[in-house]
Amino acid sequence: MEQMPKVKHVLTTKEFDRPFLDYLCNLTNRIREMHRTPEGALKLRSLWPHKRLMLYFTQPSSRTFLSFLAAGQNLGMDCAEIRDPRTSSEVKGESFFDAIRTFSSYVDIIAMRTPERNLAEQAAAHLDQTPRPVPIINAGSGPDQHPTQALLDVYTILRSFKEIGGIDGKTIAMVGDLKRGRTVRSLSYLMKNFHDVNLIFVSPEQFKMEDDILDFLRRHHIPYSETDQLKDAVAQADAVYLTRIQDEHDQMVGASAQVDYQPFYFTPAHLALLKPRGIVMHPLPRRQELDPACDSDPRVKIWRQERNGMWVRTALLHMILKNTEEISL
Ligand code: NCD
Repeated sequence: MEQMPKVKHVLTTKEFDRPFLDYLCNLTNRIREMHRTPEGALKLRSLWPHKRLMLYFTQPSSRTFLSFLAAGQNLGMDCAEIRDPRTSSEVKGESFFDAIRTFSSYVDIIAMRTPERNLAEQAAAHLDQTPRPVPIINAGSGPDQHPTQALLDVYTILRSFKEIGGIDGKTIAMVGDLKRGRTVRSLSYLMKNFHDVNLIFVSPEQFKMEDDILDFLRRHHIPYSETDQLKDAVAQADAVYLTRIQDEHDQMVGASAQVDYQPFYFTPAHLALLKPRGIVMHPLPRRQELDPACDSDPRVKIWRQERNGMWVRTALLHMILKNTEEISL
């Protein structure tokens, strides 16, 4: 394999370039192949048994948490967790920065999910000033970024389109709460790495994509359009990426929008409009975005996408550990 690109903290998707994505996806393929045999799986487990992964998840999570845990276990890592902030000394008044420094004393990588935006960046900047600058992986920062989800999304799209030219030249429709959906925000940044991608943002007026992402797309000459017509978008798209209304943020911003989501509910009638090689994705959990009656159509990739998360995170942890073996104590 070619030279491994450097990666330490994983905070947003802005930093990733095409060589990084290609390397990560190739490594992910190799890891999932290896894991198919007991010998291969055991070999993977023998790679990093002397390293520890901390999962600091103070916001609800099923798949991201479990897939990071499984990814660490795939590599033989020991995994520690804090999921309930009431079990952290932060309840005794310890600052977040002291807490994160404490975690860094005992582990080699910290994956963190928090309701606040930018906290992973701040944690990484803080640890970088200490003698144990352990890598931070952002596993979801409020309504802002979810970089590892975007990596597994790109992997899923690339795999689905491997016989038809990958992501280059494709039209991707992102649907739902684009304003607070961190998955689509992170995925949009990654589009700069592909040629001739066209984006369609499909949302109710209240949940349109934010200007910071639209500015980024304009700067990178990535064409996009905005609409509230799901059927039109589905007929044009190669990939349809559905998302949930992120109403857990309503309390935080004081805006409890009563939105009619029915026009954005993807049903078998939409499948009938989708291209034969088109795909449907969703980061999950789902509510009223995708009718489960669609799940058996092979173009609906949501469960593969979910499992791909474990493989991509396994590859990412391996790359980070390879790069940071020489952390000075
Ligand atoms: C997403 C998240 O947490 O942002 N879920 C996930 O990580 N797979 C999407 C969501 O919660 O709607």
